[in-house]
Amino acid sequence: MTHARQHHIQVVAHRGASEAAPEHTLAAYRKAIEDGADALECDVRLTADGHLVCVHDRRVNRTSNGRGAVSALELADLAALDFGSGRTHAFWRGRDEEPDWEVRPEDPEDTSVLTLERLLELVADAGRRVELAIETKHPTRWAGQVEERLLTLLKRFGLDAPASAEESPVRVMSFSARSLHRVRAASPALPTVYLMQFVSPRLRDGRLPAGVRIAGPSIRIVRNHPAYVERLKRVGHHVHVWTVNDSEDVDLCAGLGVDAIITNRPRAVLHRLGR
Ligand code: G3P
Ligand code: CA
Repeated sequence: MTHARQHHIQVVAHRGASEAAPEHTLAAYRKAIEDGADALECDVRLTADGHLVCVHDRRVNRTSNGRGAVSALELADLAALDFGSGRTHAFWRGRDEEPDWEVRPEDPEDTSVLTLERLLELVADAGRRVELAIETKHPTRWAGQVEERLLTLLKRFGLDAPASAEESPVRVMSFSARSLHRVRAASPALPTVYLMQFVSPRLRDGRLPAGVRIAGPSIRIVRNHPAYVERLKRVGHHVHVWTVNDSEDVDLCAGLGVDAIITNRPRAVLHRLGR
């Protein structure tokens, strides 16, 4: 069953099309663009020599053939690793077997470490509007450096100071209100998304940290507390839900009028939404 919807729901590829290709690789992001995703989600971390790279975990052990913390490795160390040979296939599919990715990367660049700069280039060359939802990881350890580097890089691409939040093709997401505050202080028009794994008591009435207009609840929150989503919408916030992979959850989100669905399966979600 597909659904004709009243409102446009943005479909965001979580770590790229991360069920079709290894997460956070060029292969996964190219596939997401090909599949028609409206936006791409990525996590960013700082290397020991100050480069922003798209890696989810603190360490590279799960997603590559190397070991160690991203923050202790230099970009050259990461560039020597293969991010197509890690255990992400088993991680997403729940099976410990030989990977059978839908996308079979041919060029080593397709599965080498992805810098945020390279991802911004990919988006700039997409040939259509593709938005970027960038999540800052470990923002406390680096005390502002992640956000500083991020804004410097966005500035180089002319993306740090949009005319308005609505027009911005980039938004910054974080579980850390402090990280979002740093971003807004430096770049007030850049939209920010407050990610939530649970709803803290002081936010139950639908409030978000000062200046944040987009809530990012997990699908578990949405399933267990749909009234909370309605409250967020009523007070005028946008709602971006992660990580939504099942048809029933897509239907639930659509019925509640969420604004964005973040998924590992952008093509399937687009299909479910009748697009
Ligand atoms: O899009 C938000 C979601 O990615 C947050 O969780 O752990 O996948 O970064 P995580
Ligand atoms: Ca993320």
